[in-house]
Amino acid sequence: MNILIIGSGGREHTFAWKVKQSERCTGLFVAPGNSGTESIATNLNIAVTDFEGIKKAVIQNKIKLVVVGPEDPLVQGIHDFFLQDNLLKNVAVIGPQKAAAELEGSKEFAKEFMIRHNIPTAAYQSFTKENVEDGYQFLETLNPPYVLKADGLAAGKGVLILNDLDEAKSEFKSMLIDAKFGEASTKVVIEEFLDGIELSCFVLTDGKDYKILPTAKDYKRIGEGDKGLNTGGMGAVSPVPFATKKFLDRIENEVVKPTVEGLKKDNLPYVGFIFIGLIKVGDDPKVIEYNVRMGDPETEVVLPRLKTDLVEIFQAMANQTLSEVSINIDERAATTIMIVSGGYPEAYEKGKEITGIEKITDSIAFHAGAKFKDGKVVTSGGRVMAITSYGNTYQEAIKKSYQSIENLHFDKMNYRKDIGFDL
Ligand code: AMP
Ligand code: GLY
Repeated sequence: MNILIIGSGGREHTFAWKVKQSERCTGLFVAPGNSGTESIATNLNIAVTDFEGIKKAVIQNKIKLVVVGPEDPLVQGIHDFFLQDNLLKNVAVIGPQKAAAELEGSKEFAKEFMIRHNIPTAAYQSFTKENVEDGYQFLETLNPPYVLKADGLAAGKGVLILNDLDEAKSEFKSMLIDAKFGEASTKVVIEEFLDGIELSCFVLTDGKDYKILPTAKDYKRIGEGDKGLNTGGMGAVSPVPFATKKFLDRIENEVVKPTVEGLKKDNLPYVGFIFIGLIKVGDDPKVIEYNVRMGDPETEVVLPRLKTDLVEIFQAMANQTLSEVSINIDERAATTIMIVSGGYPEAYEKGKEITGIEKITDSIAFHAGAKFKDGKVVTSGGRVMAITSYGNTYQEAIKKSYQSIENLHFDKMNYRKDIGFDL
């Protein structure tokens, strides 16, 4: 079967790496891909939201299964586009339809879904520019820190956490009145602050049943000790050591089951990944957010631990026979360290030659913002490469990744030296 993966990050290289191991995959395409995917698949120079371009490529290359990596095409309705097209409607798409993708596309939609289905989450209210004054009043009823969220997609930047009430009011105003996050902040959700440790839970669903993948913990801040600006993710660890069997059972019963049941009750067809961002408050799991895709760099530690054939899983999801598949997980820990361009997540330079990749033998180098230029691998983004290792313990795996990184060089290369520090 010919398979197309949509996206160009470390997540998509990891998908390609895993799909490529399946005998069921005869042709593998990635749009637009990166240097990592180019080494194992055919890259197609098509943007992730160019649905017409994707359609042409699917027909031309006889693709039967499409795996959507990032959220943008899902929120813009790529799955619906396939279903509505006579030539594409029989192609399997992994990723929810537009209506369900609103779980990530709108914070308010996600909050209403959680409240409706009794899924534990932070108390909240949402506001538009018509009721800014009500928002100020709601802020006054809360204790600091104050959590402000742009309702729509804001490239991971739409959440502000502020300690000062006046500053919170002024940011709130700037989101609604000055369109600080453009369209995304025409609505703003104000939330109760939850104090605890975060983890992510990944669920596969075919709309009828579900399977839970290993948990992971992501390190979002640029600086050591979780300081500084938010990034897409600077490293990840799987499994999460504090996620005990008892806690995981609670997540399954209190969050995963009501989520999958809720999708059914609300008539929201869903074939894809549900990425549940959780926070452990005391002993209780609470949902911070839903994403309708896999995480990046969480994919780089979750998929390497999956022993089951991923194409078999995708086919079962598309055929609604997921309950018949058994998911086997490697007992070992996996960790990844993200190598980034100096300056990221603010301005950074591109086009720097990366050397030493071939010397990495004890770890897997998943390429992200990297591409081929004149036969050399050069940087093309902020997050450049995720170095994944296995270990009997997460400490051992982390050590291996750091040793492998010693081989890698490019001008102004940066990475966090403390992944796993808080576990
Ligand atoms: P989100 O985009 O909703 O995942 O939010 C980004 C980050 O903000 C999360 O990963 C958390 O670290 C933090 N965050 C979001 N909501 C809350 C909350 N209610 N309480 C505490 N931290 C939060
Ligand atoms: N690493 C967080 C995300 O993919 O959203």
